Amino acid sequence: MKIKLSQEWLNISRQYEAAKNISMKSLFEKDQNRFENFSIRLENILFDFSKNIITSDIFSTLLELPKAAKLKDKIDAMFDGEKINFTENRAVLHTALRQQNSSPIYVDGENIIPKIKSELAKMQLFADSIHNGIFRGITNKKITDIVNIGIGGSDLGPAMVVEALHDYAVEGITSHFVSNVDDTDILNVLKRINPETTLFVVASKTFTTQETLLNAMTAKEWLLAKLGNDTGAVAKHFVALSTNIDACAAFGIDVENIFQFWDWVGGRYSLWSAIGLSIALSVSYNNFSELLQGAFAMDEHFRTAPFDRNIPVVMALLGIWYNNFFDARSHCVVPYEQNLSKFPAFLQQLDMESNGKSIDIYGEILSCSSAPIVWGAAGTNAQHSFFQLIHQGTQMIPADFIAFAKTNRNENRANIHHDILLSNFFAQTEALMKGKTPDEARKELVKQNLSEDEINRLLPHKVFAGNKPTNTLLIKELTPKTLGNLIALYEHKVFVQGCLWEINSFDQWGVELGKQLAKKILPELETASKINSHDSSTNELINLYKLWKL
Ligand code: F6P
Repeated sequence: MKIKLSQEWLNISRQYEAAKNISMKSLFEKDQNRFENFSIRLENILFDFSKNIITSDIFSTLLELPKAAKLKDKIDAMFDGEKINFTENRAVLHTALRQQNSSPIYVDGENIIPKIKSELAKMQLFADSIHNGIFRGITNKKITDIVNIGIGGSDLGPAMVVEALHDYAVEGITSHFVSNVDDTDILNVLKRINPETTLFVVASKTFTTQETLLNAMTAKEWLLAKLGNDTGAVAKHFVALSTNIDACAAFGIDVENIFQFWDWVGGRYSLWSAIGLSIALSVSYNNFSELLQGAFAMDEHFRTAPFDRNIPVVMALLGIWYNNFFDARSHCVVPYEQNLSKFPAFLQQLDMESNGKSIDIYGEILSCSSAPIVWGAAGTNAQHSFFQLIHQGTQMIPADFIAFAKTNRNENRANIHHDILLSNFFAQTEALMKGKTPDEARKELVKQNLSEDEINRLLPHKVFAGNKPTNTLLIKELTPKTLGNLIALYEHKVFVQGCLWEINSFDQWGVELGKQLAKKILPELETASKINSHDSSTNELINLYKLWKL
């Protein structure tokens, strides 16, 4: 148990001592209203948290945490534009990007809403002009391929959304995402596209990120070589999404083709900003706009619902319950929707880059655990790889199960697939909760006419302890709106956990050291001499690389 030493945390630790013996299965048997008591319905989303190791007493004790942490004030501070990212002296206003009314929000005395609206209008105009063929390539051909070049928040969010909204794709547009500095990534895309009909979207908040600039430069050289070195081609085939206008212009991008956002938008929270241009280009501006509306609806829920009916707050508290009291070291997310297969990777950056910290807001070493390892994969594939460990392994892995009631596909047999998909979805959380007792397992083995010796030999392996906690998000349909709901829900869950652990969820200094060292090592790879400026391991690895790469 790694907790904070305040009265509220200690109260929960007392509940934990009793909770160790709780059986969810018997709680369900005793309480016919357990589902009603532990579920929240928000429009087309049902959040069922009844399959967790909680009672009403535990739940009320958990709810003391946000009260004691003055969470309401912290939520207001974020939405109002206070500079809560204090290590970078920045406001945190991804919520302003999707605000659906014109209430002013001030940053350094300036109302930022007009400039958000004007950038959105510019994105709409541009997306429409690509789709209706007004904006064309240098040889006057219609754009058919969009290549987003970015990494981290400038890739994971848009790539995840474009895949999730695959069924909403604009006809005639194919989207590609390039992120890795490994040349395989960009070369694989360049092989498949026609320079005359391709638009490169260079997405980088800082426009200094090594991977993105190198990939963009490789794309630019390729384009110019293919189009007879016509320098005008860059203006017709490159746009940039950034806060750093000067660097975009220095790269050669037409100032008209730069879509701007601001330092109060964190990279991993940026898909709602100009970084969403690839989304608008792939699925239409209208659908991008619906995504924003969905996120706004979740923002409203988050800021106004009482904490015991507030989905992000309840999710955050359950996460803390397992992370800090049961010492669960990881959190699994399993979307039963192939188009959401990138959602776990998106959540990894959102959660682990935000809350993977060990220093609190007072500059002290944290006494409690912070972010768990977030992982997952789409169901049912996940069932055939790592579910064994969740069912019968030695660690507790709390998991979120996400599915959509309606399928977007109406091809022949789509409903057959969907019912089978969903039967697995329902079965897994039930199996994880109920398990299989030795008695039940024995009965099954007896039915197979096995000898008593054989039964005794197999029995321990056939038992499932059960009592494995899961949350279920059952959503009516995967639409841009419900996707917006879902992403904002997780953003706010991460924010609440950061508030309760008292960390700054909005900086990411931990990514800097490796970048600094790579800068020092790069010139060493280009010299002939042996390297001895590092520890012996790093020296010898570099030297062997230099020998072997020849
Ligand atoms: O590696 C960390 C990081 O700064 C992320 O936070 C960010 O999303 C990513 O790099 C990309 O940064 P940029 O958008 O400035 O290229």
